[in-house]
Amino acid sequence: MPFVFFQQLKILKYEEVESTNATAMQRLKTGGAQNGDIILAGYQIAGKGQAQNTWFSSKGNNLLVSIICRDIQLKVSQLPLLNMLVSQAVYTTVCNYFSENTTIKWPNDIMVNEQKIAGILIETTLQGEYIKNAVIGIGLNVNEDSFPENLTHACSFFSITNRYYNLESILNLLLEQLDIQLLKLKQSNFEEIKEHYEAVLFGMETKRYFRQGETKFEGIVKGVNNAGQLLVETESEIKTYNNKEITFDLN
Ligand code: BTN
Repeated sequence: MPFVFFQQLKILKYEEVESTNATAMQRLKTGGAQNGDIILAGYQIAGKGQAQNTWFSSKGNNLLVSIICRDIQLKVSQLPLLNMLVSQAVYTTVCNYFSENTTIKWPNDIMVNEQKIAGILIETTLQGEYIKNAVIGIGLNVNEDSFPENLTHACSFFSITNRYYNLESILNLLLEQLDIQLLKLKQSNFEEIKEHYEAVLFGMETKRYFRQGETKFEGIVKGVNNAGQLLVETESEIKTYNNKEITFDLN
């Protein structure tokens, strides 16, 4: 399939790196990076997760990939849009294998049966009010057969089906989906993209428990706003939350 958004994809394979995102950012810094360059690693010594967390993945078992978007020329205010599109691409890839009970947990965790199968970390360089370059880091748990004890809500293709998968096929599908979704940056409007995102949003229109610091509360997810904040209806009102301000209380 020809790629349109990226035009040309170049996969740079590494056995081991600190973090594929860090390698991609470094490549941008030194001026050697092209739009569509992909850093793929078998292992990360210090894989980066959201909020300064680390990303767990044992050697050679999963997809650890960072895609470079150079001169993307998006407004900083459009970052939520980019996040939704990338989430949708990973979501669709996973759905190709597990169509039921796959959701996007705000802002960008991909869940199967309420367990996290993939995480996304988008890092950017800015120029004024524009995003100049973006590195889209994706960790997708494929053949992981055991997770550390503290990761009580993690899953993989293997843990769901008890069989191993070809990483390359999944990567190809993921890259196709990213190309399709990122093209929408140019073609679609925010409302349309948001509609697709909300249609598969974890906890949408259902009563869930949340945690905010030490407090646990009940609410119903009503969607997201243009700033990418989560809308949660509590007894009295609809409140908006920033990333990491609240977490879902998973069973
Ligand atoms: C999360 O915490 O949910 C985000 C996890 C993102 C992990 C991926 S693995 C490939 C890329 N390189 C990194 O260091 N992190 C991202």
